[in-house]
Order: sequence, then structure tokens, then C-alpha cells
Amino acid sequence: KVIVLDFGAQYGQLIARRVRDLHVYSEILPCDAPASEIAAAQPSAIILSGGPASVYAEDAPKVDPGVFELGVPVLGFCYGQQIMATTLGGTVGHTEKGEYGAAPLTRKGESRLLANTPEEQTVWMSHRDAVSQVPEGFTITSVTDTCPVASMECAERNLYATQFHPEVRHTPNGNQMLSNFLFDICGLEANWTMEGLIDSMVEDIRAKVGNDRVILALSGGVDSSVVAALCARAIGKQLTCVFVNHGLLRKNEPEQVEEVFTKQFDVDFVHVHAEERYAKLLDGVTEPEQKRRIIGTQFWEEFFTVAQHTGGVKYLAQGTIYPDIIESGARKTGGKASTIKSHHNLIPFPEGVHFDLIEPLDHFFKDEVRALGTALGLPDYIVHRQPFPGPGLAIRIIGSVSPEKLEILKNADAIVREELDAYNARLFEETGERNSEHSCWQYFAVLPDIRSVGVMGDERTYARPIILRAVESSDAMTADWAKLPYDVLARISGRIVAEVPGVNRVAYDITSKPPATIEWE
Ligand code: XMP
Repeated sequence: KVIVLDFGAQYGQLIARRVRDLHVYSEILPCDAPASEIAAAQPSAIILSGGPASVYAEDAPKVDPGVFELGVPVLGFCYGQQIMATTLGGTVGHTEKGEYGAAPLTRKGESRLLANTPEEQTVWMSHRDAVSQVPEGFTITSVTDTCPVASMECAERNLYATQFHPEVRHTPNGNQMLSNFLFDICGLEANWTMEGLIDSMVEDIRAKVGNDRVILALSGGVDSSVVAALCARAIGKQLTCVFVNHGLLRKNEPEQVEEVFTKQFDVDFVHVHAEERYAKLLDGVTEPEQKRRIIGTQFWEEFFTVAQHTGGVKYLAQGTIYPDIIESGARKTGGKASTIKSHHNLIPFPEGVHFDLIEPLDHFFKDEVRALGTALGLPDYIVHRQPFPGPGLAIRIIGSVSPEKLEILKNADAIVREELDAYNARLFEETGERNSEHSCWQYFAVLPDIRSVGVMGDERTYARPIILRAVESSDAMTADWAKLPYDVLARISGRIVAEVPGVNRVAYDITSKPPATIEWE
């Protein structure tokens, strides 16, 4: 396998992806992982990612110099080249002007890394600092107008580096370079597949768990479902899936989750009917944060009540994925993606209770997790499920939550999903892309706490409006309202008013994030 040492959240991810796309298994570790930890992972190659820092900044991320003594080929990109240079005795200086975007590159002399690429080619640059003097034993293998060391290598020690970014598509020969490194230099074989990965993940879980019991909070979302499916294959009924039904899920969702994890997968499935307890707790609560707090706290109450009544539980399985780790790490360290696993603190274990964690997805990205889910046989409606907030429909009902409002929102939301699922499916057929430019990323109905006058038949109505929210986004950090065709909007509006009693009006939220958020509360 290939270990990518990550010097900044954006970069390591992409490199690990590119390597896996070439059918070589790759994992990410934080840049300051000790050489002993890296050696223990027995990598066949190490890649040092780029990163936003300057090597001379006071808190600049460092690499354990022992990494270069492991006898494992190392390849560095951008910051990775600079840190390789300074660690091995070279120097890095500021270039007069930065170099950003496409740059013409000229090769110099022999290079194993740049083999089978043109003498003159375009590469993608993004830097201000650059190596000014290479460490002893290194040769310069390419330059640009601005950058005197666009790439360098020391073939005897199998150390290679580029100032440019071979991992981005804007470096047309980047894939060739990465292939040169993986296959010619490191002698790896392109034989990694998702199915093979499942087998080894299943083996790992089995070996770790032995005869013990594992418990999992199953939400029905992609991540927890994939972990459940993996554990089901590995340990079957030694897994207890706790599904806390707070009554705030979308129409038919609890039934679907129960169906999948009782009929298709052979696990111990506990359906906790907490609907009435939640209804009581939320009665009359209108403040959004208070709703969230109540729902979150009660969730762990319900979960640990079951956990403590389930004998012999040693492990808690979680669907943590790589971006979750990066997010919590980045938050703590102000950008550098290094504090792995700080999010673990978020589980509020009750006094005297502790389970070890099993997090089989913590090196993967969402789309890879989806691919795993498909390979494990999970149905499409789980694998391609939209994000859905933990507090559920409670934060899509403005004001206090009541059974009547929940009923209205569930029915309206079901229509929104049905129509926009179909719309997305049509786009998918036309473009072959699941997230094409115009497809909706997340869509749902919101029920505000007002009424308005309408006329239905010859009758005056005084009923509720539904707000349609549909956004385009890639990561939920920013979003734009979806420019849905009028006929799609008209169908949704017509159906909701006709089919959902108590609704006489539909409005469309045409606000982006920022300044709004995707959810209403
Ligand atoms: P906002 O409303 O902040 O939402 O723009 C961004 C994304 O996060 C989802 N969301 C949540 N997901 N627990 C979750 O697991 C939550 O409490 C929560 N609140 C918002 C939201 O649906 C959107 O995709």
C-alpha cells in the first residue's frame, strides 16, 4: 500500500484518490506521524502531499526525518518537495513572484519520474516558495521560467519530488508520472479493487472483534449503513444495530431501514420506538438550538440504555469517514489536518461506560463509501441517500413540533422527493453523471409557523404553506438554490396542494448559502 502524508486537508485526499484510481491501495496519515508508525503500516511507497504553509513559518508542519531512512521510495509534491529539500539539507527560498496556474515546463536530463512524458509540457503550479538548492545527491530534472527546481530526484535513494501538482487534472502528464512512480519505481501492481478491499476489511473486523459483541447506532444514512453491512458480513449476529426512531424521520424511512437490516442482513436489530418520549420532550419547544440539544441528548440516552442492557459489548462501531476526521482535526489546529480522532471526544459515554471504537471507513471519502455500499449489496435508496440532519424533521418545522405538523411535512416532503428523484434520474440518464451541473444535491420541504388565506373550490381556506428547498452543492459548505425548470416546480406545487390536506400554498426558497443555510433551523 501507499501511505500519503497529509500536509493540508485539500491535498492529501486528492492524491490518495488518484492512487486508488490507479488500482493501488492508499491510505492517508497525518504529516507528523512518527516514522515508526509509518514503518508499522509496511508501505511500499510514501507520498508527501502539498500544503498551505511555508516551510519557514513558525508552526510549519514537519516530517519525521526517519521517513527518508525507511528504504521506501518517497515522492513529494509542492510543499512535499520543499519539506524533503529542507529536511535533507537543501534550501528553500521565496521566488520573486509566485507561480499560480498552468506553467510551461522544460525537462532536464534523465528522470525516472518524468519518463515517457514530453520534453516540453504544461504543469499546474501553486506556490510562492521554491527549492533554491537541492540536497546532496539530488539532480534537477525540470525547470520553469519562474521555478529553478520544478522537479528533483535522487534515484539511488529512490527519492523524488515535484514543485508542481501531478495529482490535478490540469497537469496532463500527471497520471503518467504517478504511474511511473508506483509501477516502475516502486514495482507495485495495479490489482487493488473494492471487492478485494471488502474482504480484507471483513477479515480485519473479524480478527479484532474475536468473540466479543459490537454495538452500532444505525441512522439509516450511508455511512452507518455501510459499517453495519460490513460488520454483518464479518460477524453477523455479534453486531447489535440500535435504530433510535425519534419519530422525526421522513415518510417510510424507519420501515425501509428495518426491512434492510432484518431481511437482507443477518444482524441483531433493535428498533427503539422513542417517538412518544421525543414528542413529550419537544412539546412547546420553539428555539432551534434547544430542539437540537434535546434531540441530541436524548439520542445518546436511548442508545446507551440499549447498550447497557446488551450484555458483553466491547466495541462501538461508527461510520466516521475521512472528511469527518479532517474537519475535527482542522478545527483544532487551525487548518493543518493533523489531529486525527479528536472527534471521538464527541461521544458522551455515561459514567463508567466505555467501548473501544471500530471505524472501518475512516480512510475513505463519501463516494468511495457509496461504492463500498453498492458492492455490499445495499439498496440504492440508502447508498445514494441525501444528507439528512440528525435532528430530522424537527428542524424543518419552524416553531413547536406537533403530530399534526409532522404528518403534513412528511407527506409534502415525500412528494418533493418523489418528483425531484425523478428529475435527477432524468438528468442522470441524459448526462451519465449523478451530480451533473443542474441536478439537485439536496431537496426537502419546510413547514413554517404561519397560515395564509386561499381559495379551494368555492371555499375560503386558511391553511399552511410549504416551503420548497432545493440546492446545488458539492460539500454543503456553500450552496446555491437549484434553478429548477418551471414545469417541475409547477408539478410539485400542484401535487402538494392537491394531495396534502392542510396545505394551500407552496413557496420556493431562492436563497443561497451564505447568507442563508441549507436547513431552516
Ligand atoms: P446547513 O443548514 O448548516 O446544513 O447549511 C449543511 C448540511 O448539513 C446538514 N445538517 C446536519 N447534518 N446533523 C447532521 O448530520 C445535523 O444536526 C445537521 N444540521 C444540518 C444539512 O442537511 C446540510 O446537508
